[in-house]
Amino acid sequence: MKDTYELKLNASAQLSLPLGLVQTLRTRLGKPADSWLRYRLPQIIGLCQSRWGLEVEEAIPGGATAVVLAVRKAGMSAVLKVHPERELAERELHGWQLWAGKGMPSLLEHDVELNVSLQERVIPARSLAEVGDRDIAALAATGLLARLHSVGRPLNLPTLSTLIARRFTGAQALVKEGQAVVTSDLLSRAREVADRLLLESGPDVALHGDFFPDNILFSQQRGWLAIDPQACRGDAAFDAGTWSYAYGRGGQLRSNAELFAQHLGVSSERISGWALVVAVTNLAGRAAYGHADQAEVATTLAACQELL
Ligand SMILES: Nc1ncnc2c1ncn2[C@@H]1O[C@H](COP(=O)(O)OP(=O)(O)OP(=O)(O)O)[C@@H](O)[C@H]1O
Ligand SMILES: [Mg+2]
Repeated sequence: MKDTYELKLNASAQLSLPLGLVQTLRTRLGKPADSWLRYRLPQIIGLCQSRWGLEVEEAIPGGATAVVLAVRKAGMSAVLKVHPERELAERELHGWQLWAGKGMPSLLEHDVELNVSLQERVIPARSLAEVGDRDIAALAATGLLARLHSVGRPLNLPTLSTLIARRFTGAQALVKEGQAVVTSDLLSRAREVADRLLLESGPDVALHGDFFPDNILFSQQRGWLAIDPQACRGDAAFDAGTWSYAYGRGGQLRSNAELFAQHLGVSSERISGWALVVAVTNLAGRAAYGHADQAEVATTLAACQELL
């Protein structure tokens, strides 16, 4: 079976999108996904091309929420990211406005009506997920995190509780449909942990919101940079919790949390608590979209049970 989805951009140009991304968008958005892909996406890409003088090279695989294209603008490498959903595009844009050029790549252009951003392309873009030595990866991640958190606490950012509410609503929908490996009971226990952590939260910092190792890329010129933020404000332990779950996919949750606690001076219990919340909500989606195999499901569930 072909693993790409062929999209007609205009009379003379085609684009191959990763089939995995198309399937994830269909599961997430339902029926509207196909008409967005067939009609709206080529229109948006065409508008960006003529407005910003872009040459489209190819789709970049790896993402699951938006279409990411390698493009060139006046001979320079860039990335065009098109979101089908306004809320995620806005949340991401908040992050770019805060950190572009300061822990993230530069933001070259954006359009809030089209849900697009044109970003500096990170080269060679090796991600922290590919760094096998956990201590080296943690050192790079904590250094970057301290930098992102140090921008202060911009009050215009949405709160962490809105991000958490959205994640639980998404996970709950999958549980209702009977597709999820995460049960309603596990979900409500994770919700209780989240509510407690939100209630006992210390001072807010600006959070990346999706601090997965795949969202941290190495730039030859500027070192480790974050991409793909879901910026919000809240407990510093949340980003550390996301990392602690994600690096090793649940397998090293507790030891990651301890490492981060040492580096960032944040309580390791709070980091583990958030790691549990992110693990449960994330696993619901990863399993439903076919991104998690049996071993990952088992490891993550075991790590969650250990923390409950
Ligand atoms: N500025 C960039 N420079 C180089 N590569 C990039 C850049 N932005 C994105 N990429 C590549 O494209 C992939 C997908 O991008 P991104 O994470 O922004 O998409 P997404 O759909 O929001 O992902 P997710 O599944 O994490 O929500 C990244 O993992 C990375 O490989
Ligand atoms: Mg990403």
